[in-house]
Amino acid sequence: MKALIRVAILMACAGVAVAAHAEQAAEVYKSKCALCHGASGDANTPAGKAFKVPPFNAEAVAKESDAELLEIAKTGKGKMPAWQGKLTDNQLKDLITYIHGLQKKS
Ligand code: HEC
Repeated sequence: MKALIRVAILMACAGVAVAAHAEQAAEVYKSKCALCHGASGDANTPAGKAFKVPPFNAEAVAKESDAELLEIAKTGKGKMPAWQGKLTDNQLKDLITYIHGLQKKS
């Protein structure tokens, strides 16, 4: 019984941690990425158009691996700013997960 309770508590904590990560990623995305990439990832914003940002669900983006996307987010590419040093690796990984969520919705 005790073991079962311990497992239940552990699982509840893990669930909260995952939710907190997702929430943080959504906040960071809104404040730092949405300007160019759009709230829904479609890049349909004045800055997105000016910088020719591809929508996240574009074929070229969809076929990139997580490692490639993370690399672009870290070191930048063209007009895409480098986020290394401004955001942690974990924050950037959470953002890639968040971006995949946007890809699924659109
Ligand atoms: C100043 C505008 C701008 C901002 C702000 C910005 N991006 Fe980008 N981003 C771009 C552009 C432009 C590209 C396309 C680069 C290319 O392929 O030449 C891009 C590309 C990417 C890519 C690679 C996939 C793709 O669409 O080509 C990822 C991943 C990405 N951005 C993540 C982020 C994240 C995460 C943030 C916020 C922390 C962010 N971006 C903020 C302009 C921006």
